[in-house]
Amino acid sequence: MIQLQNIAKSYTSRGEVIKLFEQLNWQIETGAWIALMGASGAGKSSLLSMIAGIIRPDIWDIQLWDTNITHLSRDEMTRFRWAHIAFIFQAFELIPNLTVEENIDLVLDISQAPRRYDTEDILERVWLSGKWKRYPIELSGWEQQRVAIARAFVAQVPYLFADEPTGNLDEKNASKIMELIRTLHDETGNTIIMITHDAWIASHADITYRLTGGELIKE
Ligand SMILES: Nc1ncnc2c1ncn2[C@@H]1O[C@H](COP(=O)(O)OP(=O)(O)O)[C@@H](O)[C@H]1O
Ligand SMILES: [Mg+2]
Repeated sequence: MIQLQNIAKSYTSRGEVIKLFEQLNWQIETGAWIALMGASGAGKSSLLSMIAGIIRPDIWDIQLWDTNITHLSRDEMTRFRWAHIAFIFQAFELIPNLTVEENIDLVLDISQAPRRYDTEDILERVWLSGKWKRYPIELSGWEQQRVAIARAFVAQVPYLFADEPTGNLDEKNASKIMELIRTLHDETGNTIIMITHDAWIASHADITYRLTGGELIKE
């Protein structure tokens, strides 16, 4: 379960205060696949970064299963994040000087989480068999995105946070990514929060929330 209570956060930018949240509450059941929608600038990425302990709210109480991250030091938070949360970003964020295999294995090394899939197995699942030794630059954007999916599922961590995971893909490939995530989600039972601006992408999730005016509304 993910539980947020009374979150307040504002940014100050050139003397101007932008209030993102004043008293935000949210509860997500374990194993759910949540889509988070909302206009550009609504605060979706900020909210996800707060739940991942990357950005600190002004007032907060965030519980991830049995850990209240509010009380973790920065170092404890970093260790906790690697051991519990996988990420998929719009821009893939593969490490350019590591091969596909090394990019995937690096996550296992750093997170210290148990392995869920053999690298060979997970690469086959994302239709990249035989591409282990390639560097990211030797792959198309569509192939790189599938490496990012493989990397997000290889370690046994309970949460997956995805920020516009199909942002740069055409509809046909975005649809294949959604099918992949559905299969791997059903297999692993992980809890997913997926940011998207696209209602059709959101329709693949179990529940959609819209972030608007600093409030979360279930659709
Ligand atoms: N570090 C920051 N400093 C000041 N303002 C920020 C910062 N990060 C985000 N913002 C502002 O907060 C608002 C929400 O941003 P963001 O969370 O990226 O929204 P979304 O992901 O929904 O597009 C925007 O107005 C953005 O300009
Ligand atoms: Mg964003």
